Amino acid sequence: MTPLLSVENVSVEFARGVTAVDQASLTVGRGETVGLVGESGSGKTTIGRAVLGLVPIASGRIILDGTEIQNETVTGRLASRLQMVFQDPAGSLNPARTVGYSVAEPARAAGAGSAAAGRRARELLTSVGLPAEAAARYPREFSGGQRQRIAIARALAAAPELVICDEPTSSLDLSTQAQMLNLLTSLREARGLSFLFISHDLAVVRHMAERVVVLYRGMVMESGPAQLVSTRPLHPYSQALRASAPVADVAAQRQNRAERHKLIKVSSSLPATGPDGCPYAARCAFAAPVCASQRPQPVVAGSLEVACHRYDPTSGHPQQVDLTDTIGSCATAAHEGDREGRA
Ligand SMILES: Nc1ncnc2c1ncn2[C@@H]1O[C@H](COP(=O)(O)OP(=O)(O)O)[C@@H](O)[C@H]1O
Ligand code: SF4
Ligand SMILES: [Mg+2]
Repeated sequence: MTPLLSVENVSVEFARGVTAVDQASLTVGRGETVGLVGESGSGKTTIGRAVLGLVPIASGRIILDGTEIQNETVTGRLASRLQMVFQDPAGSLNPARTVGYSVAEPARAAGAGSAAAGRRARELLTSVGLPAEAAARYPREFSGGQRQRIAIARALAAAPELVICDEPTSSLDLSTQAQMLNLLTSLREARGLSFLFISHDLAVVRHMAERVVVLYRGMVMESGPAQLVSTRPLHPYSQALRASAPVADVAAQRQNRAERHKLIKVSSSLPATGPDGCPYAARCAFAAPVCASQRPQPVVAGSLEVACHRYDPTSGHPQQVDLTDTIGSCATAAHEGDREGRA
């Protein structure tokens, strides 16, 4: 079945040679939640904005439900199918307008009359756990978590099929975060929504998504089922992300710290990575000379796809490759701390 959203080899360039997104591909199926994870500056927001036509793409294609979206702001019919919820709820609501007015705006843009739009706004506010009376109040009267609920209600007003959530919980405290994730999960189930769920936090993404795409400096490093990417990733960068995620118990913290030592290089002996190399080479403990000069292409590794020169697809069992095999998989090297195979 055609995916609802397909991002194919998309690059986004900003002035002064910043390539924020580098030939990235991902899909979101109908009713599916896909997590987009990576550290700050990896290009996550830019991908979301590119899908909405808020930044032009330099190359590649963005296809919504079989129709290519050209380089233009998503308006009209398309706008009603795609909505984005931003990290900072304050920034997405007009402080001079009542909450009801802001929430009803997409519904009005989609053709609803003002009475119907107002009714819809009150209904939507209730569906995100706020009282209908909130419609008559102003954004400043609400807490951060409540404002994020308002922003979600607003995104839902146009009855979108796909909602791009850009770090919707990262400005909230922990308990509000959990409530927000539960709200998004129940909305997804009740409305059959698809989500592209953006976060720097692998644990949050794992909680929300069926599939995860790992981004580093604009390039997709690894993708696959959320459970696998978050517990047994193959790519050295995803492994470092996994080992950096906060864990509660002390033994797991110690194990993660030891793993990070093996995975992340303190200083690089490699020449600076050229534009065609692996963007992660300077930090990767498994980098070989080829990593600095050639871009790794994604290869299928069971249900994962991994873009890494040191992953060995011929073995088929990447985590059980003989450790003495110096061109063995990154996964093997990372798990066992093989430092011999590095150039
Ligand atoms: N409007 C812009 N102009 C110039 N550079 C930008 C702009 N927006 C983002 N960038 C740069 O693009 C890269 C990716 O940014 P962003 O997509 O915001 O990453 P993330 O959301 O993963 O933190 C960063 O290097 C950032 O500085
Ligand atoms: S081994 Fe090479 S290709 Fe793989 S992540 Fe490290 S630097 Fe990139
Ligand atoms: Mg961002």
